[in-house]
Amino acid sequence: MGAAFYDVCHRRRDVRGEFTGAPVAEDVLRRVLSAAHAAPSVGMSQPWDFVLVRDPGTRGRFRDHVLAEREVFASELEGERAETFSRIKVEGILESTLGVVVTYDPGRGSPAVLGRHAIADAGLYSVCLAIQNLWLAATAEDLGVGWVSFYREPFLRELLGIPEAVRPVAWLCLGPVTHLEEVPDLERHGWRGRRPLEAVLHEERYTDAATRSTASAERSMSSEVVEKLETETRR
Ligand SMILES: Cc1cc2nc3c(=O)[nH]c(=O)nc-3n(C[C@H](O)[C@H](O)[C@H](O)COP(=O)(O)O)c2cc1C
Repeated sequence: MGAAFYDVCHRRRDVRGEFTGAPVAEDVLRRVLSAAHAAPSVGMSQPWDFVLVRDPGTRGRFRDHVLAEREVFASELEGERAETFSRIKVEGILESTLGVVVTYDPGRGSPAVLGRHAIADAGLYSVCLAIQNLWLAATAEDLGVGWVSFYREPFLRELLGIPEAVRPVAWLCLGPVTHLEEVPDLERHGWRGRRPLEAVLHEERYTDAATRSTASAERSMSSEVVEKLETETRR
């Protein structure tokens, strides 16, 4: 049972190109959404909502907007970064079966949200935990999820009739896939790889000696060496 959980954690991928568009059974979708809704939340505020978007027209309008935002980002890149990014797909909005838009309502449970008085972002963290639960549950159901964040919040608010005070946090492409890649897309395309656990692990204090030496060693390493280290860490 424990092993199955870790397997799901490591199999989970952000999917763009592998959606089949096949239907998702209602009971499966319900289980995935129930897992999301079972997430922890600050002060039990449960500040999330899930908007299921199946309409091709709505999805098409969102995709046009995302592709325009992709161009905005691309225009800020130069040289090798521009070249590498040009080969990366950033969404599977039309190819997936449906979109699940996850929103954050800061007003839910207000004014006295227990645990949020000092850290306003704790509400947003709660929504992200619901998203992660959804992502892992979908993986356990052999479905793929792709998080799209190439959008302006006012556009998505307007498109889906989301009230002004509510923030759209994610457009999740969801549906059956041909397969899940073993290596993240960004790593396969040479955009950026996963860092070794050692590089982010600290003992007692953030600035402990071991971390400092790992971090500075990492900075002085060539990208080739970092790649080798990361490959070894994954084994
Ligand atoms: C907050 C957030 C926003 C993301 N936005 C996008 C996006 O707009 N387009 C995209 O293709 N992937 C997006 N991703 C996916 C990441 O690129 C992906 O998680 C990362 O490269 C690691 O790959 P993996 O999820 O397959 O392990 C996003 C992920 C997160 C957590």
